[in-house]
Amino acid sequence: MHKIIPFQSIDSTNSYLKENFKSLAEGNVCFSLHQTGGKGRRGRVWQDEGKDLLFSILFLEGLNEKFALALPLLSGAAVAQTLVGLGFDPKIKWPNDVLLNDKKCCGILVEGVSETSIDAIISGIGINLNEDSFPEDIAYKATSLHIQSGLTYDPEEVLSLFLKEFDELYEDYKRGGKRYLTLIRERFSLLGKEVYLNYHNENLSGTVEGIDDEGSLLLNDGKMVHHLISGEVSLEKTYKR
Ligand code: BTN
Repeated sequence: MHKIIPFQSIDSTNSYLKENFKSLAEGNVCFSLHQTGGKGRRGRVWQDEGKDLLFSILFLEGLNEKFALALPLLSGAAVAQTLVGLGFDPKIKWPNDVLLNDKKCCGILVEGVSETSIDAIISGIGINLNEDSFPEDIAYKATSLHIQSGLTYDPEEVLSLFLKEFDELYEDYKRGGKRYLTLIRERFSLLGKEVYLNYHNENLSGTVEGIDDEGSLLLNDGKMVHHLISGEVSLEKTYKR
């Protein structure tokens, strides 16, 4: 069971859990209808107009580097499963953007707190639910569930569907299972595509050949196959083949 900590508005659900983790418990979820300082990956801002599902989950147990790398993929796979349950056909752009009709409808930001060792890990998820449109500068790459289906979604209902899907995948992961990777491979949007990316501040390009059993991206640059760890990769461009 996840205890939900609800807000009408907050700066960032991720920041709330980072600041308060010492007085909270494993699996607590911070949920807000609006964020005034929502954070995206690579220092970007994550804006919303009060029409999204915005939440973060706190992890305090079984923390290690392996889990920190698996969590973005586990979260993305659970979002994809949630959307399948709602009648969509999502794709996953590794490591964890979820796409509907080639446009992003969900972002995931995993953050760690390490004062001594790894003290807490937080998975923050934003799903575009009920927007009718997006600003011109992002309209070509962003979508919402409402734009795709014409329906209106209740954030708390979608959250509860997500938590059920997440818990199933997480239990499987804790038993040593890899269902989350199977799901990601099934819905993998980059397979066979040529990509440009930045890895440890180095520019690489090549063809995506798949995802290995640790969740790393397999990139063939014509000379060798690189195994790229998610946290270190920034996809610059994707070309369709
Ligand atoms: C991305 O850049 O794609 C990641 C976006 C993550 C946004 C979510 S919304 C809920 C949680 N709180 C935040 O401040 N960020 C994440």
